[in-house]
Amino acid sequence: MSETILVVGSGAREHAIARALAHSVQRPRLLCFSGVSNPGIVALSSEYGLGSITQQEAVVSFARRHAATLAVIGPEAPLAAGVADALWAAGVPVVGPKQALARIESSKGFARDLLARYGIPGNPFFRRFTSMDGVESLLTEYANQHVIKDDGLAGGKGVKVCGDHLLSLEDSLAFCRELVAQGHPFVVEEKLEGEEFSLMSFCDGETLRHMPAVQDHKRAYEGDKGPNTGGMGTYTAADHKLPFLTDEDIGQARSINERVAAALAEECGAPYQGILYGGFMATREGVKLIEYNARFGDPESLNLLTLLESDFAAICRAIADRTLKDVPVRFSPLASVCKYLVPEGYPDQPRKGDPVHLPAELPRNVTLFLSAVDVKDHTLVATGSRTVAAVGTGASIAEAEVGCEEVVRMIPGPFFHRADIGTERAIAQRVEHMKAVRQA
Ligand code: AMP
Ligand code: GLY
Repeated sequence: MSETILVVGSGAREHAIARALAHSVQRPRLLCFSGVSNPGIVALSSEYGLGSITQQEAVVSFARRHAATLAVIGPEAPLAAGVADALWAAGVPVVGPKQALARIESSKGFARDLLARYGIPGNPFFRRFTSMDGVESLLTEYANQHVIKDDGLAGGKGVKVCGDHLLSLEDSLAFCRELVAQGHPFVVEEKLEGEEFSLMSFCDGETLRHMPAVQDHKRAYEGDKGPNTGGMGTYTAADHKLPFLTDEDIGQARSINERVAAALAEECGAPYQGILYGGFMATREGVKLIEYNARFGDPESLNLLTLLESDFAAICRAIADRTLKDVPVRFSPLASVCKYLVPEGYPDQPRKGDPVHLPAELPRNVTLFLSAVDVKDHTLVATGSRTVAAVGTGASIAEAEVGCEEVVRMIPGPFFHRADIGTERAIAQRVEHMKAVRQA
């Protein structure tokens, strides 16, 4: 049967998903449904629908109208809104967990409790709150050692870290009071120290197939300075580990993902079918969990889907059919570096509407993915968020970085990127930092 695959969402992550599906030997027909138009995805799709991706009926009616045989949901918001449940109910199998299972991302307290209840290692000390009762004494006990998290999805704005965003007990109390006033439950947890990494696994509810480890860079400016962003760039190594991680770290992260998938199946009485994304920190006491996401990372997925050698459409079908153990999942033994070009002022006051001139030709080892762009009067324009991502591959991280950097620099205009991502200097600093953390 020839597939008609619906991609929900339209950032660079979904551009990478659509491109990987388009490369399948099965030549699936592609559909996309999203709130905005992404010209990179438009070029790959036979139908492109505009509408709200969190409205179940809107997504289902588009899927039905165009006879989708499979759907891949990119972002977290539709998963949290139960769009996977609605598509399954309409007879369309989905890559992306149902609402109850997506709580692993949509409720930080649920994720922490799940680990605790099933004896899965990786939790720091944590406590859940819905009022100010007991908050002050806990913040005092963990003075300068705490992180406060809005329990629900907050678009990256719900986490405040002591010493970073919270500079005094009063700052911390004020943030908690704000959350209580908004009626948002929250979690206070111990601040961890180490190096962060992402480890994602394809999951059909039983079998997990792990992807190479990736490191993201959340801060807007070089040297990890400035405000937090959705992620400015990422890298992976040719051996699919990261230079600051041990085999044991990778083993621990994989094992946590496996045990979480099993715990979710038991807790929810249903299989987790989609991408399970563990956000981890390698610490002196081993690998700890920062958070779970119920979807591909952005930009992590740009690296991973560029490196994926196996047929992505076959993997998606196997996730939906629960036959993942029977399909090959291989990534090429290359390193990769991804950098996002973003508008001046991003993330707080980004410029909007500047033309984006892409290079006419790209080196063979570099791919471009479009994100927050639109077409106005036949010109590509930036719409005010992460704009274009370049992914370079190579035998080493350094080689991948050179290709990626060269292409990002070819795009003129009032944009910026992080030149330091993937450089030997930046990576050596991370290795040194991890060495110091392990010896502390
Ligand atoms: P999240 O939205 O959960 O990814 O958190 C955003 C960022 O906050 C993470 O990428 C970490 O840098 C930081 N963070 C979250 N939890 C902790 C923690 N327990 N200890 C230290 N840093 C944390
Ligand atoms: N790269 C971080 C995220 O996708 O949440």
